[in-house]
Amino acid sequence: MTIHIGAKKGDIAPTVLMPGDPYRAKWAAETFLTDIKLVNEVRGMLGFTGTWNGHPVTIQGSGMGMPSLSIYANELIKDYDAQTLIRIGSCGGMQDRVGIRDVILAMTASTVSTPSRGIFKELQFAPCADYGLLAAAHSAAVDKGTTTHVGGIYSSDVFYDERPDLNEQMVRHGILGVEMEAAELYTLAARYGRRALAVLTVSDHLLTHEALPAADRERSFGDMVEIALAAAFA
Ligand code: HPA
Repeated sequence: MTIHIGAKKGDIAPTVLMPGDPYRAKWAAETFLTDIKLVNEVRGMLGFTGTWNGHPVTIQGSGMGMPSLSIYANELIKDYDAQTLIRIGSCGGMQDRVGIRDVILAMTASTVSTPSRGIFKELQFAPCADYGLLAAAHSAAVDKGTTTHVGGIYSSDVFYDERPDLNEQMVRHGILGVEMEAAELYTLAARYGRRALAVLTVSDHLLTHEALPAADRERSFGDMVEIALAAAFA
């Protein structure tokens, strides 16, 4: 048990999928895992452990934003010895060629600040994904026929953004999409020698202002979970 996770030591698997939304953790566990067990409900941040193709997997909600994800990822790594942490979540598209429902595999995550900012001082650390996970996720996505983009994303501290000038520079520099968690996950994985990746479904678009209709969300998010599971155990 930690401050924010009620699970017993052995209740968390070495591989953890982390959606922002605790109800998406429940849905993904019920849909893709067998023999599931609720392992955390502290603050309603649901976590489940089950089995996928014979492999133990935990799906633990991270909450929204890097301060929240940082709490769960720190405890999963330091107290439960999680080795592979894959964020599964949504993002806003930032390039014309990136469409709604497409999957983005975040090779890097640029950011203005993460909860780890304080330790870097003048260094602009470049948070990046684990290459093995990234390559395996890409081949799983190609096998599924999912339209997939690999490249840099932007981890923002705000959903209701007031810096159109900054977004313009992101678009100009090829950033594929925006979300709010990956940069801190990658930074923690680098610090503790763990594997991390963010597999993201484009749910809305900053340039076209399209958004994924609610009815379509489940199927699109399902592709992302399957890609993450295939990558973890490739
Ligand atoms: N901004 C930040 N995070 C997001 C977005 C967005 O537009 N869409 C999904 N997650």
